[in-house]
Amino acid sequence: MAEPGAAASAGRLLAMGVTGTVLALVAVLLLRTATFPEPDELRGWGRTGASRIPAQFSEAERTAMKEALKEAIQMPTVSFSSENINTTALAEFGEHIRKVFPFLFSTSFIQHEVVEQYSHLFTIHGSDPKLEPYMLLAHIDVVPAPNDGWEVPPFSGLERDGFIYGRGTIDNKNSAMAILQAMELLLRRNYVPQRSFYISLGHDEEVSGTYGAQKIAALLESRGIELSFIIDEGGYIMDDFIPGFEKPFAWISVSEKGGMNLMLQVDSDPGHSSMPPKETSIGILAAAVSRLEKTPMPNMFGYGTEKSILEQLAGQFGFPLNIILTNLWIFGPIMSRILEKSPATNAMVRTTVALTMFNSGIKVNVIPPTAQATINLRIHPAQTVPEVLEIVRNVVADDRVRYHVLNAFDPLPLSPHDNEAFGYQLLKRTIRDVFPEVTAVVPGICVGNTDARHYTNISKGLYRFNPIALNPQSFKSFHGLNEKISIQAYETQVAFLFELIQNADTEKVPRPHSAEHEL
Ligand SMILES: *[C@@H]1O[C@H](CO)[C@@H](O)[C@H](O)[C@H]1NC(C)=O
Ligand SMILES: *[C@@H]1O[C@H](CO)[C@@H](O)[C@H](O)[C@H]1NC(C)=O
Repeated sequence: MAEPGAAASAGRLLAMGVTGTVLALVAVLLLRTATFPEPDELRGWGRTGASRIPAQFSEAERTAMKEALKEAIQMPTVSFSSENINTTALAEFGEHIRKVFPFLFSTSFIQHEVVEQYSHLFTIHGSDPKLEPYMLLAHIDVVPAPNDGWEVPPFSGLERDGFIYGRGTIDNKNSAMAILQAMELLLRRNYVPQRSFYISLGHDEEVSGTYGAQKIAALLESRGIELSFIIDEGGYIMDDFIPGFEKPFAWISVSEKGGMNLMLQVDSDPGHSSMPPKETSIGILAAAVSRLEKTPMPNMFGYGTEKSILEQLAGQFGFPLNIILTNLWIFGPIMSRILEKSPATNAMVRTTVALTMFNSGIKVNVIPPTAQATINLRIHPAQTVPEVLEIVRNVVADDRVRYHVLNAFDPLPLSPHDNEAFGYQLLKRTIRDVFPEVTAVVPGICVGNTDARHYTNISKGLYRFNPIALNPQSFKSFHGLNEKISIQAYETQVAFLFELIQNADTEKVPRPHSAEHEL
């Protein structure tokens, strides 16, 4: 996929259209990069010296941590739909964490609450009440995984060639387990945090988080809790994504697209199929959704932050891409058309529309009285739910079609990611500690949705970053086949959280660094 050097060739860029170079631009789209500050400029962060606990784990601890993850994977905590979740497996998960993380459940400054029977909320009381609390967020439910196509059964948690296989190994039991695991290991080393924080594990993220994250957020809001920031899944260390960027870079999502599930319905008089009307409800609705498929939502390139960012990034690239990126007033239209060619980049520049369900018909010889289609829209940060609905109506342009908004939410505002943004800088600092090979951290946008959005009202910043390296291939295993995590990657994730929790024990946000030039 990656073609080093390709990004430097404008001719190829324009000719290739949908291949590697465009993927390269996905990554730079909507982003700013920043090089890391020099090490000595980071002093004064978090715990230093004697009170710092090194992230070194014994052989026995490392074995226990991977076994605990495997067991968690073996519990089929599947969310089939919002009405159908595997409550048996969710309850087993609750027992499992009590068994493998005993310190977490017996430490005086930690309070554990079960919310809506299956979600878990831990309150870790820090020693310094002046420090504003934060939250580490993950979810314990998974999407279904039929056996077909898997190399090992999806709920086996089998270890093979240094990997643990199974549904949930990267989405998102790795995070749920790693957060608890890191805290357990810190507690075993007599750690007492200065800054308070919460660990929240939702049980229905894959079906909107209505009973998990949403209830936990409401509970905390009712208690008057305000959070400095939240860290959830939804950003990664991107490996092999950008030709020309040979080193992996970290993508912290600072916003996510909005969404809407919209049902379109056409009703017509039922009748016998021997004397059909000119158009049936199926025909009318099929024509309507076909128009929607053929008429994409407007390309919003230039209406978000992507254009100025591309211009600012120009200096990172060689001739002639740098010339193109600094002259988007000429090349903008070409760039926006290139970006819409592949599904991944297209999702970045516009609201996407996917026809996901179509139901009609009751009997072979009966004119169907009703036809229903559901479309799933993911809303670009520069648009809103009402604007998008209006466009849909105009494209369909047929009064016989009725609309039912099943659920909808606007895109989330950008969380702060400047030099004063504590949560963002904390992540950046910890990435630097744990992943020395990563040279750039970029604030991106998450095209999917996460539980973090439910906490908008009680948190100053929502950051989506999972400290694991993914290449384009591994992205396909999200909700797909052969989801897996390497044991080493999981250990690194635990180490990352172990460091991050300690790094949070500080009041200071580092000042802007002279060596750091924001591009
Ligand atoms: C639900 O979880 C239980 C307990 O792990 C498991 O035995 C059962 O097969 C699961 N049910 C479904 C429908 O996946
Ligand atoms: C945030 O607060 C507003 C205003 O009270 C409310 O309408 C909205 O639903 C809340 N959002 C969330 C995610 O709870």
